[in-house]
Amino acid sequence: MKGLKILGTGRCLPDKVVTNDDMRAFVDTSDEWIRTRTGIQTRHFCAEGESTASLGVKAARLALERAGISPEDLGACVGCTCSADSAAPTVASTIQRDLGLPKHIPYFDLNAGCSGFLYGLHVTRGLLLQSDKPYALLVGAETLSRVMNFQDRGTCVIFGDGAGAVVVKLEEEAPYAYTLGAEGGDDVIYIGGYGSKEPYIHMEGQKTFRFAVEMVPWCIHELLGQSGLKLEDIDWFVLHQANKRIIDHVAKKLGMPGERFYQNIAHYGNTSAASIPIALDEMAEQGLLKRGQKLLCVGFGAGLTWGGALLEW
Ligand code: COA
Repeated sequence: MKGLKILGTGRCLPDKVVTNDDMRAFVDTSDEWIRTRTGIQTRHFCAEGESTASLGVKAARLALERAGISPEDLGACVGCTCSADSAAPTVASTIQRDLGLPKHIPYFDLNAGCSGFLYGLHVTRGLLLQSDKPYALLVGAETLSRVMNFQDRGTCVIFGDGAGAVVVKLEEEAPYAYTLGAEGGDDVIYIGGYGSKEPYIHMEGQKTFRFAVEMVPWCIHELLGQSGLKLEDIDWFVLHQANKRIIDHVAKKLGMPGERFYQNIAHYGNTSAASIPIALDEMAEQGLLKRGQKLLCVGFGAGLTWGGALLEW
């Protein structure tokens, strides 16, 4: 089975850093409450002139440079977002224009909430299986600060803006397993979209927490079962960065050392579909990823959706 190997990564976070204390300008909260409940210390918010697409373009440019491929060899470009600037143009088509990428390949966005990057990986693999080109560009980009209710302390302290990108190659020898799913309903997480009367994120925190700590271990076991691998065979678990307590809980439930679960939630908050590619880019920058390593990525969130993929670095 042909799998996906990540060749290069990039990320872009807006310059504006907002601390937990800064959030007190909007809601009755405290640094202590936010840190202990979520692990978040700071998040980045877009300034005027920045957009979901502009963050995505910058992350994509870096990923392409670092992958060292010719854009002519790209077979697809997929944007993953639940906070696109507009219904059209898409993040992906803006990336095509701004980076001058080849025109005759598919460019589109997909929305699967915070699982978007995982959905994107599987869709990308499918596109590459049908393409005569070996590489694809996958970008998670979000400006959640633009869909946040700054009077709702249960949500506005949690989310942040940012983008992460990866260039993947379809490779014969790379391992691959995936799982995707959804159980529809807006009673747990709801994100108002274009023209919505309530264009904000609404979230039932405790229900979301329970959903995550049940689904993430399920996804991990599903991926291991499909691939015939054991927990010990996985070099890194890169989970959606929604809450430090969720990641710690999952590591404990699996009986795995926490160090194998990369975490950067402290700096960025929850950046939805961007959180896993941002994490991958940081890990690459810090030299944590070595060629040939196996990565298990799992996302969950609005939809409700979940998704997981076994990848090779
Ligand atoms: N600062 C201070 N107090 C806050 C607060 C804030 N930012 N947000 C909520 N509170 C208060 C509530 O009003 C409530 O007060 P009350 O007891 O007087 O009514 C109290 O804290 C407990 O609220 P609750 O919602 O039960 O807190 P919690 O322990 O469940 O923590 C979350 C809230 C959101 C941090 C937690 O539920 C969570 O992380 N859930 C998962 C969210 C997630 O992963 N979302 C992303 C999915 S992609």
